Order: sequence, then structure tokens, then C-alpha cells
Amino acid sequence: MEEKNTFHKQVKAIYRLMLGLFGIFGLMVATILYIMADPDLSFFRGSTADTTYVAVSEEDDFDKIENGIHVRTGLVDAEGLMTVVNNCTNCHSARLVIQNRMNKERWISTIRWMQETQNLWDLGKNEDIIVDYLVTNYPPKKKGRREVLTDVDWYVLEE
Ligand code: HEC
Repeated sequence: MEEKNTFHKQVKAIYRLMLGLFGIFGLMVATILYIMADPDLSFFRGSTADTTYVAVSEEDDFDKIENGIHVRTGLVDAEGLMTVVNNCTNCHSARLVIQNRMNKERWISTIRWMQETQNLWDLGKNEDIIVDYLVTNYPPKKKGRREVLTDVDWYVLEE
């Protein structure tokens, strides 16, 4: 009887020990599973909605067009816009492009000048796209502050 009792106690002790071990093991598994599902423990730091929102909206805003204007550069939204953005705003601001209104020949010679002196790369078939965009959207202004005078009756000043 005595022996049986100690045996019984031992079994109980082992049983408790195993229960404890299983408990710890279970907790570890649960923790690992949780960390796998939520690696930055955001559940304990409140909502992550803000950071997600910022990331998404930044991406959206990057090439946003507003009222026909590419907001980031100020260039007109037209065919060829992104080719111009990708090739013509790397070294200087798009302002420089916008402020210079030229015809086709002068745009091409400006590009050649940059290629010869400013390390502008060979634009390949993008050159046509870019020049078309520039001539269409930034042609020379037809008129200056006033039109050149014509049909003027000049008179000779008397001495
Ligand atoms: C590799 C660099 C680089 C790239 C790319 C580049 N440019 Fe330039 N560009 C320059 C530099 C440098 C100047 C001179 C800036 C200054 O005078 O302050 C310049 C000047 C200009 C000017 C003013 C020229 C003048 O007569 O004052 C215009 C217009 C211009 N670039 C248009 C363009 C266009 C259009 C593109 C796209 C095809 C382009 N740039 C791409 C470097 C570059």
C-alpha cells in the first residue's frame, strides 16, 4: 500500500511536470504563431492604419495629375509626358523646360547642346516623342509684349 502510494505520487508529479512543460511549450507555439502572423507586433502598438495610408497615398501622389498638370514637375499632361519627365527632369528642374518655348529645330539643337556639353544621354527613339511633346505643348509664343509695328509713317526730323 505504501509503495503504491509513492508510485501514485510519482506518477502525479510526472503528470504535473509534463502538464507544465506542455503548458510552456503551448505558450511558445502560440507566441511563435503570433509573431509569424504579426511580425512587427502592431497589435500591441495600436493601429497601423496610418502608416499604410501614408505609404499608399505617397505612391498615388507621386505622378498625380491635377487640372491637366503633372503636379510633381509642373509639366502639361499630354502624350509623351512621362518620357519627358524621365529624361528631362533629372539634371535640372522642369521649370527650365517650361520657361523655354522653342520650335522644333531649336528644341533639337538645345538637346544636341546638352548632349555635347552636359552629358545628356542619347535619347534614341524617345527623342521624337520628347520633341513632339515640347513643340506641341511649349511652342514659341506667337506674340511678344506687343506686335512689331508695321505700316508706320516715319517722318524726318527737321534740323
Ligand atoms: C544630363 C543632364 C541633363 C539632362 C538629362 C537634361 N538637361 Fe537640359 N540642361 C542641362 C544643363 C546642365 C543645362 C544648363 C543649366 C543652366 O544653364 O543652369 C541645361 C539647360 C537646359 C535648357 C536651357 C537651355 C538654354 O538655352 O538656356 C533647356 C530648355 C533644357 N535644358 C531642356 C532639357 C530637355 C527638354 C531635356 C530632356 C530631353 C533636358 N534638358 C535634359 C543638363 C541636362
